Amino acid sequence: MTDLIAAKKYGGVHTEEEINFIINGTVDKSIPDYQISAWLMSVCFQGMTFEESAMLTRAMAKSGDMLDLTALGGNVADKHSTGGVGDKTTLIIVPLLAASGIPVAKFSGRGLGFTGGTIDKLEAIPGFRTSLAMDEFIGQVKEIGAAIASQTGNFTPADKKLYELRDVTATVNSIPLIASSVMSKKLAAGSDIIVLDVKCGSGAFMKNLDEAKKLAETMAEIGKRSAKTMSAVISSMEQPLGNVIGNGIEVFESVQILKNEGPEDLKELCLYLSAIGLLKANKVKTIEEGVKNLDKLLKTGRAYEKFLEIVKHQGGNVDFIENPEKLYETQFAFPLESTKAGYVNKLDALEVANAAKLLGTGRDKKEDSINYNTGIFLNKKIGDKVYNGDILATIYANSVTEGKKSREILANAYELSKEPVKIPDLIIETII
Ligand code: URA
Repeated sequence: MTDLIAAKKYGGVHTEEEINFIINGTVDKSIPDYQISAWLMSVCFQGMTFEESAMLTRAMAKSGDMLDLTALGGNVADKHSTGGVGDKTTLIIVPLLAASGIPVAKFSGRGLGFTGGTIDKLEAIPGFRTSLAMDEFIGQVKEIGAAIASQTGNFTPADKKLYELRDVTATVNSIPLIASSVMSKKLAAGSDIIVLDVKCGSGAFMKNLDEAKKLAETMAEIGKRSAKTMSAVISSMEQPLGNVIGNGIEVFESVQILKNEGPEDLKELCLYLSAIGLLKANKVKTIEEGVKNLDKLLKTGRAYEKFLEIVKHQGGNVDFIENPEKLYETQFAFPLESTKAGYVNKLDALEVANAAKLLGTGRDKKEDSINYNTGIFLNKKIGDKVYNGDILATIYANSVTEGKKSREILANAYELSKEPVKIPDLIIETII
């Protein structure tokens, strides 16, 4: 291991045998944490070739269980977002794809940070079971075309161990390490078509376009080298996606979109990502054709029906889907009023996230509990005209202190200009 650390330190390229040695030693604990940490730091400085990243990813994927989805007949789709503020796209894309006849076997996670992950959001629906046995999970995809569950069993133990070490050694922020971590979980989850949504901006892991592009390309290359059908979109995370941030409240907004209501930006991104899924599954010839077909599924209510079916199958109380306002009923609501007039020219995603976190929408450690009903409703976003006294946003809180503090932070997230402001592009780049 000392030789391998030294090789990487000077920019050497590892062989497959060397990478397997490191990953096996990580999982069976024959390599001490301090050596793995030193190696991680060398990777941070020197990077990895696409081939090394692909080999690392495969080794990590094979370190635990691998899901076999052959019973679903191929063309099973998965999507992954690198995470952002207000990102509830999974809740919309999964029923959209399933209603188009593309099976989706979706594993999601709980979140660390400002809001919950998809699993936390789904658990805001009373009764919704996110922990499914493997045969039930696959059986549900066979029967209704989709299931969303948390990963149980022994998936990618190498990633778990490496991530723990990265977290405490300032080595999270490395493109090959992020890409291999994400893609190892995708390979283990067994889908054939993978659509990636790489976020770029203040509320994302990748703060600038160059970095986001590199991450997207690396993940796409890794997937292709393991015979996956890959595509990636780079989308903006300068301001939150959609109008709401929280857990239950994000389910509410997803239901709105599925009923052909709700904010345009969220709808645009969900239709675009799903249309790429359709294109890659050879169901349409162009992304535009896919968007058109999917839009019909929203208008006819078929995507909404599919979501209801998923919720019913997984034990969720459909009353909360039929009346989704119930998902963010809190004791207190605090409006944030504008003290001037103008146009919103900045709505800092990270500040909004911090304001939400104060309400208990997220967690710092895996063991922490979160609030399902608290959250933020943004009435004004970039480009919107604002009059003095207009309500910019409303905060749904369970405590007066938290609500007021959250409102103070949220006020700093907004910046107004006197001149009209152009709404920035949401979809920045597509790698097909
Ligand atoms: N998400 C992951 O799954 N892994 C990383 O390394 C970063 C984000």
